[in-house]
Amino acid sequence: MIIITGVTGGIGNYLFNSFFKNGEEIIGTYHLSKPEGEQYKNCVQLDITDNSEVEKFVNSISSHSENITLINCAGISYNAFAHKSDVHEWASVINVNLTGTFYLIRAILPLMREQNFGRIINLSSIVAQTGVMGTSAYAASKAGLNGMIKSIALENAQKAVTVNSINLGYFKVGMINTVPMEMQEKIKTKIAFNEFGDPQNIFNTIQYIRETPYLTGSCIDLNGGIV
Ligand SMILES: NC(=O)c1ccc[n+]([C@@H]2O[C@H](COP(=O)([O-])OP(=O)(O)OC[C@H]3O[C@@H](n4cnc5c(N)ncnc54)[C@H](OP(=O)(O)O)[C@@H]3O)[C@@H](O)[C@H]2O)c1
Repeated sequence: MIIITGVTGGIGNYLFNSFFKNGEEIIGTYHLSKPEGEQYKNCVQLDITDNSEVEKFVNSISSHSENITLINCAGISYNAFAHKSDVHEWASVINVNLTGTFYLIRAILPLMREQNFGRIINLSSIVAQTGVMGTSAYAASKAGLNGMIKSIALENAQKAVTVNSINLGYFKVGMINTVPMEMQEKIKTKIAFNEFGDPQNIFNTIQYIRETPYLTGSCIDLNGGIV
Protein backbone atom coordinates (compact mmCIF):
# COMPACT_ATOMS: atom_id res chain seq x y z
CA MET A 1 0.00 0.00 0.00
CA ILE A 2 1.25 3.44 -0.95
CA ILE A 3 0.13 6.48 1.01
CA ILE A 4 0.70 9.90 -0.54
CA THR A 5 -0.10 13.18 1.19
CA GLY A 6 -0.93 16.33 -0.76
CA VAL A 7 -2.39 14.70 -3.89
CA THR A 8 -3.75 18.03 -5.13
CA GLY A 9 -0.21 19.39 -5.34
CA GLY A 10 1.88 19.28 -8.51
CA ILE A 11 4.22 16.49 -7.43
CA GLY A 12 1.78 14.59 -5.21
CA ASN A 13 -0.73 14.51 -8.05
CA TYR A 14 1.85 13.31 -10.56
CA LEU A 15 3.01 10.54 -8.23
CA PHE A 16 -0.53 9.50 -7.30
CA ASN A 17 -1.51 9.09 -10.94
CA SER A 18 1.72 7.30 -11.85
CA PHE A 19 1.30 4.71 -9.10
CA PHE A 20 -2.41 4.42 -9.90
CA LYS A 21 -1.64 3.69 -13.57
CA ASN A 22 0.88 1.06 -12.40
CA GLY A 23 -1.98 -0.72 -10.68
CA GLU A 24 -0.60 -0.17 -7.17
CA GLU A 25 -2.85 -0.11 -4.16
CA ILE A 26 -2.79 3.54 -3.19
CA ILE A 27 -4.47 5.96 -0.86
CA GLY A 28 -4.07 9.69 -1.19
CA THR A 29 -4.81 12.51 1.20
CA TYR A 30 -5.94 15.98 0.22
CA HIS A 31 -6.17 19.07 2.37
CA LEU A 32 -8.70 21.68 1.22
CA SER A 33 -10.66 20.24 -1.69
CA LYS A 34 -11.08 16.75 -3.08
CA PRO A 35 -9.68 16.33 -6.59
CA GLU A 36 -12.19 15.20 -9.20
CA GLY A 37 -11.94 11.84 -10.92
CA GLU A 38 -12.72 8.18 -10.32
CA GLN A 39 -9.13 7.44 -9.27
CA TYR A 40 -9.48 9.75 -6.26
CA LYS A 41 -12.61 8.12 -4.87
CA ASN A 42 -10.79 6.62 -1.86
CA CYS A 43 -8.81 9.76 -1.09
CA VAL A 44 -9.19 11.11 2.41
CA GLN A 45 -9.24 14.68 3.70
CA LEU A 46 -6.40 15.28 6.11
CA ASP A 47 -4.75 18.30 7.68
CA ILE A 48 -1.38 16.89 8.64
CA THR A 49 -0.92 19.54 11.34
CA ASP A 50 -3.81 18.06 13.32
CA ASN A 51 -2.37 15.12 15.22
CA SER A 52 -5.74 13.66 16.20
CA GLU A 53 -6.85 13.72 12.53
CA VAL A 54 -3.59 12.03 11.56
CA GLU A 55 -4.04 9.29 14.18
CA LYS A 56 -7.65 8.76 13.10
CA PHE A 57 -6.54 8.45 9.46
CA VAL A 58 -3.86 5.88 10.27
CA ASN A 59 -6.29 3.88 12.46
CA SER A 60 -8.79 3.85 9.60
CA ILE A 61 -6.35 2.18 7.21
CA SER A 62 -4.45 -0.05 9.62
CA SER A 63 -6.53 -3.21 9.20
CA HIS A 64 -6.11 -3.35 5.41
CA SER A 65 -2.61 -1.93 4.83
CA GLU A 66 0.47 -4.03 4.23
CA ASN A 67 3.94 -3.34 2.78
CA ILE A 68 3.40 0.33 3.37
CA THR A 69 5.27 3.11 1.59
CA LEU A 70 4.50 6.55 3.01
CA ILE A 71 5.36 9.41 0.65
CA ASN A 72 5.21 12.79 2.38
CA CYS A 73 4.43 15.35 -0.33
CA ALA A 74 2.32 17.85 1.61
CA GLY A 75 4.21 21.05 2.14
CA ILE A 76 4.00 24.84 1.99
CA SER A 77 6.45 27.66 1.45
CA TYR A 78 6.61 31.25 2.62
CA ASN A 79 8.74 33.89 1.03
CA ALA A 80 10.05 36.74 3.17
CA PHE A 81 13.36 38.07 4.34
CA ALA A 82 13.81 37.02 7.99
CA HIS A 83 13.79 40.57 9.33
CA LYS A 84 10.48 41.33 7.60
CA SER A 85 8.80 38.00 8.17
CA ASP A 86 5.51 37.38 9.91
CA VAL A 87 6.16 35.04 12.84
CA HIS A 88 2.85 33.21 12.38
CA GLU A 89 3.50 32.52 8.68
CA TRP A 90 7.02 31.44 9.58
CA ALA A 91 5.76 29.04 12.25
CA SER A 92 3.10 27.54 9.99
CA VAL A 93 5.79 26.43 7.51
CA ILE A 94 7.55 24.55 10.30
CA ASN A 95 4.20 23.25 11.50
CA VAL A 96 3.21 21.75 8.13
CA ASN A 97 6.55 20.71 6.63
CA LEU A 98 8.27 19.42 9.74
CA THR A 99 5.80 18.82 12.58
CA GLY A 100 2.95 17.61 10.35
CA THR A 101 5.26 15.23 8.53
CA PHE A 102 6.50 14.00 11.91
CA TYR A 103 2.91 13.36 13.07
CA LEU A 104 2.33 11.06 10.10
CA ILE A 105 5.61 9.25 10.54
CA ARG A 106 4.98 8.84 14.27
CA ALA A 107 1.47 7.46 13.70
CA ILE A 108 2.43 5.00 10.96
CA LEU A 109 5.58 3.61 12.60
CA PRO A 110 3.88 1.20 15.06
CA LEU A 111 2.09 -0.44 12.12
CA MET A 112 5.26 -0.71 10.05
CA ARG A 113 7.23 -2.09 13.00
CA GLU A 114 4.55 -4.68 13.68
CA GLN A 115 4.68 -5.75 10.03
CA ASN A 116 8.49 -5.76 9.91
CA PHE A 117 8.43 -3.64 6.78
CA GLY A 118 8.11 0.01 5.90
CA ARG A 119 9.34 2.73 3.58
CA ILE A 120 9.07 6.38 4.59
CA ILE A 121 10.05 8.91 1.93
CA ASN A 122 10.07 12.66 2.47
CA LEU A 123 10.26 15.28 -0.23
CA SER A 124 12.92 17.63 1.02
CA SER A 125 14.69 20.39 -0.86
CA ILE A 126 18.01 21.64 -2.10
CA VAL A 127 17.15 24.84 -0.26
CA ALA A 128 18.04 23.04 2.98
CA GLN A 129 21.59 22.68 1.64
CA THR A 130 22.27 25.87 -0.28
CA GLY A 131 20.22 28.65 1.25
CA VAL A 132 18.07 30.87 -0.94
CA MET A 133 17.13 34.42 0.04
CA GLY A 134 13.65 34.69 1.53
CA THR A 135 13.32 31.04 2.46
CA SER A 136 14.49 30.82 6.08
CA ALA A 137 11.32 29.04 7.24
CA TYR A 138 11.22 26.63 4.30
CA ALA A 139 14.95 25.89 4.54
CA ALA A 140 14.70 25.32 8.29
CA SER A 141 11.74 22.97 7.86
CA LYS A 142 13.48 20.88 5.20
CA ALA A 143 16.82 20.82 7.05
CA GLY A 144 14.81 19.72 10.09
CA LEU A 145 13.33 16.83 8.12
CA ASN A 146 16.76 15.73 6.98
CA GLY A 147 18.07 15.73 10.55
CA MET A 148 14.98 14.05 11.94
CA ILE A 149 15.19 11.05 9.64
CA LYS A 150 18.72 10.24 10.78
CA SER A 151 17.43 9.40 14.26
CA ILE A 152 14.25 7.70 13.11
CA ALA A 153 16.26 5.55 10.69
CA LEU A 154 18.42 4.31 13.56
CA GLU A 155 15.40 3.55 15.70
CA ASN A 156 13.73 1.42 13.03
CA ALA A 157 16.37 -0.32 10.90
CA GLN A 158 16.11 -3.55 12.92
CA LYS A 159 12.43 -3.68 11.98
CA ALA A 160 13.23 -3.33 8.27
CA VAL A 161 11.64 0.10 8.20
CA THR A 162 13.67 2.60 6.17
CA VAL A 163 13.40 6.39 6.31
CA ASN A 164 14.88 8.59 3.59
CA SER A 165 14.56 12.04 2.04
CA ILE A 166 14.93 13.25 -1.52
CA ASN A 167 16.50 16.69 -1.77
CA LEU A 168 14.66 18.00 -4.80
CA GLY A 169 16.01 20.76 -6.97
CA TYR A 170 13.47 22.55 -9.16
CA PHE A 171 10.74 20.61 -10.97
CA LYS A 172 8.32 21.47 -13.76
CA VAL A 173 5.21 21.07 -11.59
CA GLY A 174 3.94 22.42 -8.29
CA MET A 175 5.56 25.17 -6.24
CA ILE A 176 7.73 26.40 -9.11
CA ASN A 177 4.59 28.01 -10.58
CA THR A 178 4.60 30.52 -7.73
CA VAL A 179 8.10 31.73 -8.68
CA PRO A 180 8.16 34.79 -11.00
CA MET A 181 9.17 33.98 -14.62
CA GLU A 182 12.28 36.13 -14.48
CA MET A 183 13.48 34.28 -11.38
CA GLN A 184 12.69 30.93 -13.04
CA GLU A 185 14.99 31.80 -15.95
CA LYS A 186 17.76 32.78 -13.51
CA ILE A 187 17.42 29.47 -11.66
CA LYS A 188 17.66 27.51 -14.93
CA THR A 189 21.07 29.01 -15.65
CA LYS A 190 22.36 27.32 -12.50
CA ILE A 191 21.12 23.86 -13.52
CA ALA A 192 23.51 21.71 -15.59
CA PHE A 193 20.62 20.52 -17.80
CA ASN A 194 19.39 24.10 -18.11
CA GLU A 195 15.81 23.07 -17.43
CA PHE A 196 13.54 22.09 -14.55
CA GLY A 197 13.21 18.42 -13.73
CA ASP A 198 10.59 16.07 -15.09
CA PRO A 199 8.68 14.56 -12.12
CA GLN A 200 9.20 11.10 -13.65
CA ASN A 201 12.67 11.37 -12.05
CA ILE A 202 11.05 11.66 -8.62
CA PHE A 203 8.91 8.61 -9.34
CA ASN A 204 12.01 6.64 -10.40
CA THR A 205 13.92 7.67 -7.27
CA ILE A 206 11.02 6.63 -5.06
CA GLN A 207 10.95 3.23 -6.75
CA TYR A 208 14.71 2.92 -6.16
CA ILE A 209 14.24 3.68 -2.46
CA ARG A 210 11.37 1.20 -2.19
CA GLU A 211 13.47 -1.56 -3.73
CA THR A 212 16.66 -0.90 -1.75
CA PRO A 213 16.33 -2.23 1.82
CA TYR A 214 19.89 -1.26 2.83
CA LEU A 215 19.25 2.42 2.11
CA THR A 216 18.16 4.32 5.20
CA GLY A 217 18.82 7.66 6.88
CA SER A 218 19.87 9.05 3.50
CA CYS A 219 19.12 12.29 1.71
CA ILE A 220 19.36 11.71 -2.02
CA ASP A 221 20.13 14.78 -4.16
CA LEU A 222 17.93 15.02 -7.25
CA ASN A 223 18.59 18.39 -8.79
CA GLY A 224 19.90 18.15 -12.37
CA GLY A 225 23.40 19.14 -11.33
CA ILE A 226 22.64 22.50 -9.81
CA VAL A 227 25.46 24.81 -8.70
N1 LIG B 1 8.00 21.50 -6.99
C1 LIG B 1 9.29 21.57 -6.71
O1 LIG B 1 10.10 21.93 -7.58
C2 LIG B 1 9.80 21.19 -5.34
C3 LIG B 1 11.16 21.39 -5.06
C4 LIG B 1 11.67 21.01 -3.83
C5 LIG B 1 10.82 20.42 -2.88
N2 LIG B 1 9.50 20.25 -3.16
C6 LIG B 1 8.67 19.62 -2.11
O2 LIG B 1 7.85 18.62 -2.69
C7 LIG B 1 6.58 18.58 -2.02
C8 LIG B 1 5.47 18.75 -3.06
O3 LIG B 1 5.66 20.02 -3.70
P1 LIG B 1 4.70 20.59 -4.82
O4 LIG B 1 5.54 21.41 -5.69
O5 LIG B 1 3.86 19.51 -5.39
O6 LIG B 1 3.81 21.58 -3.91
P2 LIG B 1 2.33 22.10 -4.13
O7 LIG B 1 1.90 21.97 -5.53
O8 LIG B 1 2.28 23.45 -3.50
O9 LIG B 1 1.46 21.08 -3.25
C9 LIG B 1 1.53 21.04 -1.86
C10 LIG B 1 0.44 20.13 -1.33
O10 LIG B 1 0.49 20.14 0.12
C11 LIG B 1 -0.86 20.24 0.59
N3 LIG B 1 -0.91 20.79 1.94
C12 LIG B 1 -0.60 22.05 2.33
N4 LIG B 1 -0.84 22.19 3.65
C13 LIG B 1 -1.31 21.00 4.10
C14 LIG B 1 -1.75 20.53 5.36
N5 LIG B 1 -1.76 21.31 6.45
N6 LIG B 1 -2.16 19.24 5.45
C15 LIG B 1 -2.16 18.44 4.36
N7 LIG B 1 -1.77 18.83 3.14
C16 LIG B 1 -1.35 20.11 3.02
C17 LIG B 1 -1.55 21.13 -0.43
O11 LIG B 1 -2.96 21.01 -0.33
P3 LIG B 1 -3.89 22.35 -0.35
O12 LIG B 1 -3.49 23.11 -1.57
O13 LIG B 1 -5.26 21.81 -0.39
O14 LIG B 1 -3.58 23.11 0.93
C18 LIG B 1 -0.99 20.56 -1.73
O15 LIG B 1 -1.71 19.41 -2.11
C19 LIG B 1 6.62 19.70 -0.99
O16 LIG B 1 6.94 19.17 0.28
C20 LIG B 1 7.72 20.61 -1.47
O17 LIG B 1 8.33 21.31 -0.41
C21 LIG B 1 8.97 20.63 -4.35
